[in-house]
Amino acid sequence: MSDPQTTEQRVARLLGQMTLAEKIGQMSQRDASDGYAPDYLGDGLRAGCIGSVLNVVDADVVNELQRIAIEESRLGVPLMVGRDVIHGFKTVMPIPLGQAATWNPELVKEGARVAALEAATAGVNWTFAPMIDISRDPRWGRIAESLGECVLLTNKLAVAMVEGFQGDDLSATGSIAACAKHFAAYGAVESGRDYATTNVPETELRNVYLRPFRAAVEAGVTTLMTSFSDLNGVPATGNEFLLRQVLRDEWGFDGFVVSDWDSIRQLQIHGLTENDRESAFEAATAGVDMEMHGDAYSNHLAALVEEGRISIDAIDAAVRNILRAKYRLGLFENPYTKPEDLPAVANDHALETARQAALQSVVMLKNDNGALPLSAESMSSVAIIGPLADAPYQQLGTWIFDGDVDLSITPMHAIHSLVGRDVDVRYVRAMDNSRSKINAAFDEAAEIAQESDAAILFLGEESILSGEARSRADINLPGDQAELVRRIRATGTPVIAVILAGRPLTLTNIVDEVDAILFAWHPGTMGGPAIADLLFGIESPSGKLPATFARMVGQIPIYYGQKNTGRPPSPDNVAHIDDIDTRAPQTSLGMSAFHLDTCFTPLFAFGHGLSYAAFEYEHIRTNTHKIRLGETVTISVELANRGDVAADEVVQLYVRDLVASITRPVKELKGFRRVRLEPGQTVTVDFDLHTDDLAFYGRNMQLITEPGEFHAWIGGSSETQLRTEFRIIDSNRFPG
Ligand code: NOJ
Repeated sequence: MSDPQTTEQRVARLLGQMTLAEKIGQMSQRDASDGYAPDYLGDGLRAGCIGSVLNVVDADVVNELQRIAIEESRLGVPLMVGRDVIHGFKTVMPIPLGQAATWNPELVKEGARVAALEAATAGVNWTFAPMIDISRDPRWGRIAESLGECVLLTNKLAVAMVEGFQGDDLSATGSIAACAKHFAAYGAVESGRDYATTNVPETELRNVYLRPFRAAVEAGVTTLMTSFSDLNGVPATGNEFLLRQVLRDEWGFDGFVVSDWDSIRQLQIHGLTENDRESAFEAATAGVDMEMHGDAYSNHLAALVEEGRISIDAIDAAVRNILRAKYRLGLFENPYTKPEDLPAVANDHALETARQAALQSVVMLKNDNGALPLSAESMSSVAIIGPLADAPYQQLGTWIFDGDVDLSITPMHAIHSLVGRDVDVRYVRAMDNSRSKINAAFDEAAEIAQESDAAILFLGEESILSGEARSRADINLPGDQAELVRRIRATGTPVIAVILAGRPLTLTNIVDEVDAILFAWHPGTMGGPAIADLLFGIESPSGKLPATFARMVGQIPIYYGQKNTGRPPSPDNVAHIDDIDTRAPQTSLGMSAFHLDTCFTPLFAFGHGLSYAAFEYEHIRTNTHKIRLGETVTISVELANRGDVAADEVVQLYVRDLVASITRPVKELKGFRRVRLEPGQTVTVDFDLHTDDLAFYGRNMQLITEPGEFHAWIGGSSETQLRTEFRIIDSNRFPG
């Protein structure tokens, strides 16, 4: 591990030897996806004009590029080698949103660790992850890459990922630099349209969208990436408020900031600048240290410095940030990749981590009359139907450039291996893909369902329907899938839906047509065995939703941490379009915050997820009803497993600050813990809550905890009603 003082001295010494061109070179990143070291890259490296490359994943090519940079350039500065290692490298973990459904920071950290070790074998020393944009809009395709809608869950998992990628020692073999992205508020794009405008008031920005970035910075993340979008009128890539005031002055970040792909030149397209030179000026002035892929910096920064518009001090500050990261990564000592020094990719540990992550990520949304688990002993045949039952590539999800599809085990194969000897497993794909509107094979599917003891439908959306630039306005199951469900339902055979998707979907049109739903996200390499084990009761589902499931798109954004409003909806004060004539005029019905044509609640709430165990929560209590600022209250609950199987449960603590100087959410997650209970076991689960944990950014943008009344709930989802209260006394405001 590098000593900070020595690192600063080394940075200063090297910087002192650099020409302006070499400094600008450090600030420039080039695409190197050709699969070899082409002349133009070699020449750039020799001239010291390239500080980083991306998208090269061949250790020999990386070593050759490093060799040229080190041996043939004047100062021999090694390269940062970046890649989107988002949820695994060869071994693919569930998509990040699926990992968030595990509510298991240790497991998420291990997933990132496995990904780092595998990526390092290819010479990658920098991943563009974690993506920690809070997202409350499932239309946005990039919600798949996010950790969901909740500040605390995202904070904890963001830190876990940073720690997993970077390891205990960033300079150790197998540790790679992380990049928290996209700074900031990219997840708030209008109507979920990727790249669109974001408008977020500063209190909301600080209380919601910036929090995970602050947590990542405090966890030592090496880099941040800017967002493509404009925020409150200023594109993030030219946003001095974000990149200087918040990130550097308030948070003291000393890593470096990279633009997104060509997002500096896009400042012109946004209408912020007239040309690339002005774009380079805006980005450098705002605090973007490195340009990803574009050439605005390499073409224009030197002239801007010579004209006196950008000071050499500003350039030096950016280069210092980049060199500091390179020293911390140990690149000057160990620039070359030796795959033989690292564990083999896709080893048993990697696959087991992927299997555990998939297992814990699956959320059982519904299970009527114990339709699940299926019992292999008491059935003779099962029908497997649907476009995603045997789709090894699709189950990997978005952003899997390097994922090895040959490692994928599909649910179809896993079910065969698990029960194929005892149960007749029949399979009809029924649709070529999830978008298909051809129903020619539905009769055959209905036939095998009719003849079987249960029908398992593998539905959802392929990986190309979520991720970057994959926004959808209609988030029902695409194609004719709902019709397929109805056809199978009509056979009278119990119907189990297993849904693989990159986003929360609106399932209103199928929810009553099926007996049970397992929502499996895109579960990665080991999705099949995990799903098979859950279907047949080898394991109990334990995933919990990291994002709310709307009933219909018109409800979006709908999330658990909404504000109360002055007219909150309740069952007694809402009307429906079908009874508005009779109900609304007679009373004050309908004068609250709701939609006339749907229920005001979501279809499935944040934190929801069923189990084969029967968990009961009782006796919520606090150790005291009053605390002073700076003190801690302990909130406890008893959790019993009154079922007959052992299972994990994710216990969740929510809090509401009843009166505050700005309106506060009706519930905020303040703690969670995954616990395992044997049948008949009861445990007490305690959460310590310090008054700092209740701090928020108030009207003057300072982090404060305000005294007053708080409600606290504990339960198995955000809908829990098991409540206690406490009060914070003391009028001294408490700075964070
Ligand atoms: C654009 C994406 O927005 C970003 O997340 C990604 O890291 C870069 N491209 C590099 O592929």
